[in-house]
Order: sequence, then structure tokens, then C-alpha cells
Amino acid sequence: MRQSGRNGRTVSLPSGEQVPALGLGSWHMGDDPARRSEEIATLRLALDLGVTLIDTAEMYGEGAAEELIGEALGDRRDEAFLVSKVYPHNASRDGVPAACERSLRRLRTDRLDLYLLHWPGGVPLEETVEAFEALRRAGKIRHWGVSNFDLAEMEALWAVPGGEAAATDQILYNLARRGPEWDLLPGLARRRVPAMAYSPLEQTRLLRKPALMDFASRHGMTPAQAALAWLLARKDVISIPKTASRERLRENVAALELALSDEQLAELDRLFPPPTRPSPLAML
Ligand SMILES: NC(=O)c1ccc[n+]([C@@H]2O[C@H](COP(=O)([O-])OP(=O)(O)OC[C@H]3O[C@@H](n4cnc5c(N)ncnc54)[C@H](OP(=O)(O)O)[C@@H]3O)[C@@H](O)[C@H]2O)c1
Repeated sequence: MRQSGRNGRTVSLPSGEQVPALGLGSWHMGDDPARRSEEIATLRLALDLGVTLIDTAEMYGEGAAEELIGEALGDRRDEAFLVSKVYPHNASRDGVPAACERSLRRLRTDRLDLYLLHWPGGVPLEETVEAFEALRRAGKIRHWGVSNFDLAEMEALWAVPGGEAAATDQILYNLARRGPEWDLLPGLARRRVPAMAYSPLEQTRLLRKPALMDFASRHGMTPAQAALAWLLARKDVISIPKTASRERLRENVAALELALSDEQLAELDRLFPPPTRPSPLAML
């Protein structure tokens, strides 16, 4: 499929559809008019480079990021795999379709490829799942999933009628946030549900960690490339680093060419150890 992207690295959704393992985030895009033209150029370059999975949310700039993406994609919408998210307070039987219509209008499209519940909220999951499934039947969304769900919350979701159709759980996961490896990632893997790793660069804080800077310089890569190559080496994980710069996008995409060796992965395990006990799922 075109949505697999030209970069070749893909992850399977539970339906069997392949999506790019490296996508593009959009939080804070559309906030600053002075950055707008570079943001649009970066989104279009992303399509050229095969980074066709684009993540957004109604929350980002209260619609401003979706509007920017709609403008940037223009007549190239079919090249993209568009992910958006509904606020938990909109996740009701009537709220989901209304929020979806607003997102579709801002994104200038007739369908979302993946629609996520942004974080667990007060609306019963049965109702949200019912609303997602109705949108799917109507062709307004192709897949749905959740975000910021821990394993207990995923189990509650899988227990409601239709809940096992969830296509992903988008979570905070990076070298400095390995907690999900304790039970959430194995739990998702048992159901063949890929994780989507947000803030893969820890919003740049990871890039300033001396251990990662040192690792990267010794192995001839940048800290961002090391952080992304580590995530790309993990099975069934989709990463969505955000950048609004063409130069940094090219840098990030080059991480796809960096297959970390077993020795390099072992070194990263020493520098950023995997969890040894359960911890609550963190959220940014
Ligand atoms: N589901 C959720 O609750 C949730 C929460 C947070 C994020 N997200 C999604 O995940 C996406 C990614 O997470 P994030 O934006 O929080 O953080 P991130 O991707 O870890 O980091 C983004 C920051 O890193 C910078 N950056 C990108 N590439 C770089 C590079 N090669 N070198 C140096 N700096 C670089 C960006 O600046 P420039 O743009 O200037 O390059 C931006 O400031 C979001 O945009 C959003 O789509 C979802």
C-alpha cells in the first residue's frame, strides 16, 4: 500500500495492514505563524521521504495543528496515514461523531485512518467503542485505538463488546521511559497490538543526556538518531517524533538506515536499563 511509505520499515496493525514504523508528530505545529511555512514544507517533505503516518489531535492548538496538516497535505491526502485523537470529554455516543466531523473538516478529508481516545476519561468505554465502531461502519474512520492506557485499562477495554478491535495504544515510550516494557508491551504483543511511542525524544530532554550524547558520538550518529534507532529496533513499535524542520526531519529519517548491533543495544541497556519492577504509566 502507498501508506507503507517508501522508507520500507513497517509495523503490522492487527488487521494486517502495514504502516510506517517512523511517523511524524504534530504537537505545537500551527502555534506560531512565523514557523508556518517551514512546518508546511516539513510535512510535505515527510510525504516525499515516506514518513506518511502523521499524528495529530483535536487538542493540539485546539484544532490549529489539524488545520495546518489539512493545508499542507492539500491534494496529497491519499499519500498519508492520518491519525487523530478525540478528547475524553468528547468520547460519548454523540460527542465522538461530532468531534470526528470537526477533525475531518479541519484536515480537509472525508476519513481518518486511525482515531484514538486521547486518554482514559469518564465516559464508559462501551459507549466510546460503540461510537468508534459506528464511525468505522460509516467509513469516517478506518481504524480506532486508544492512548495513555495502562495494561489494566487495556484489559478493561478488551472486555467490552467490540473492544478487541483496538488497533494501537499510543504511549510515552523512549530510552528514558522504559516502564511499559514491564507488562504493557508484553500484554499488547500477546494481542498483536502495536504500541505507538510518543515523545520518542522526550521532547528533546533525552538528547541532552550525557550518556546518550557520548554513545551517539562514539558510534557516528546524532543523539536523536540513536534514540530513534533504538525504538526502530523494537518489534511492533511505531515512533512519531515531531519536528517542524526539514533539516531535523532528514536527520531523523536517516535513523532508518541505522540498524543497531547487538553490542550497541546491550550498551544502551546498560546506560538506560530496562525496568526491574512495575511502575505507573507516565503521561506527558
Ligand atoms: N497521546 C499523547 O498523549 C501524546 C503526548 C505527547 C505527544 N504525542 C504525539 O507524539 C508526538 C511526538 O512527541 P513530542 O512532540 O511530545 O516530543 P518529541 O517528538 O520527543 O520531541 C519533539 C521536540 O524535539 C525536537 N526535535 C525533533 N527532532 C530533533 C532532532 N533531530 N534534533 C533536535 N531536536 C529535535 C522538536 O523541535 P523542532 O520541531 O524544532 O525540530 C521538538 O521540540 C507529538 O508531536 C504528538 O503528535 C502524543
